[in-house]
Amino acid sequence: MPRILTIVGARPQFIKASPVSHALAAAGLTEILVHTGQHFDALMSDVFFDELAIPKPSYNLEVNSLGHGAMTGRMLEKLEASMRIEKPALVLVYGDTNSTMAGALAAAKLNIPVAHVEAGLRSFNRRMPEEINRIVTDHVSSLLFCPTRTAMANLATEGVTQGVHAVGDVMYDATIAAVARSEGRSSILETLGLTAGTYAVATIHRAENTDDPARFVKVVSWLEAAARDGVVVMPTHPRTRKLMAQLGVSPAGVQLVDPLGYLDMTRLVHHARAVFTDSGGLQKEAYFHRVPCVTLRDETEWVETVEAGWNRLWEGPNCGPRHDIPDYGQGRAAHLIADLIATYVTK
Ligand code: UD1
Repeated sequence: MPRILTIVGARPQFIKASPVSHALAAAGLTEILVHTGQHFDALMSDVFFDELAIPKPSYNLEVNSLGHGAMTGRMLEKLEASMRIEKPALVLVYGDTNSTMAGALAAAKLNIPVAHVEAGLRSFNRRMPEEINRIVTDHVSSLLFCPTRTAMANLATEGVTQGVHAVGDVMYDATIAAVARSEGRSSILETLGLTAGTYAVATIHRAENTDDPARFVKVVSWLEAAARDGVVVMPTHPRTRKLMAQLGVSPAGVQLVDPLGYLDMTRLVHHARAVFTDSGGLQKEAYFHRVPCVTLRDETEWVETVEAGWNRLWEGPNCGPRHDIPDYGQGRAAHLIADLIATYVTK
């Protein structure tokens, strides 16, 4: 049976890979997992493998805490070596991180077909490292799995029309599974002393908000103002924690906690009154839980959430009337992806 080599490295990729990994196994495909090591803390990595029952990676490349060029370069070299050993029929990558782009490039250079989950997203802001990663990955991929029709249209605008499929959003699949499991297994509300429906959840980690101290101070002030209106709890990314220590700033009134596992985060967001974030994934998760979101950025790739009245940009207009978003699918995106991959590698 042809083998699939999957590359993960950062927190959101562990979540996205979980439903797809299970669906690939159900479709009878053998999957080899490679962890680039980009996220390495127990709280940023191990906990996700445990909670999501993802197979143990066959390789951990331990590439982390480097600048973009060095990180991507070392990943490229090490990923190429593992691909030469494993000789996969296809390489599977997720999202928009440095691990995604390094995986896609390493495979493309070896003439191994690349499948990209979450293809076609664009913020149209090329100052974001993620935007460069998305564009490069999409342009070297043979199978492009789009979560939305907007993503398909973005690819068509760039002349990418072959191998493009609208499958829905794998994070919706993951959320459905996690909501059911988290209710019995997470006691995060009790641990943090929170009452359902009364608090907001905040997360900040994007380079665009954390690379420029002036910008970060503006984000901190925004959070402080929000905290004057009600409880705000903020699971804090290591990058953000480091920056707060360096600058000696911390949002007054905001309850800072360590990064949470997926089940705790799911339960926390599910019962929140609002979400404030610069994360791509969390904007959508807020909608999946039907919790209103403010995105602390100047643009978003997930324009559907704004159009549907569930999300707004921090300096944008207030939310319009709310409606559901059919694009994200019915929680079967992972199965559709596995079937399309199985057809592709056995043809
Ligand atoms: C990366 C992705 C981003 C994604 C995010 C999810 C890129 C360009 N960015 O950003 O698209 O939304 O992951 O979280 O790939 N660190 C730790 N412990 C960890 C992980 C990171 O201390 O387990 C530190 C690193 O050493 C570094 C900083 O946090 O100093 C940032 O990590 P990095 O991997 O550069 O990117 P993220 O901000 O996590």
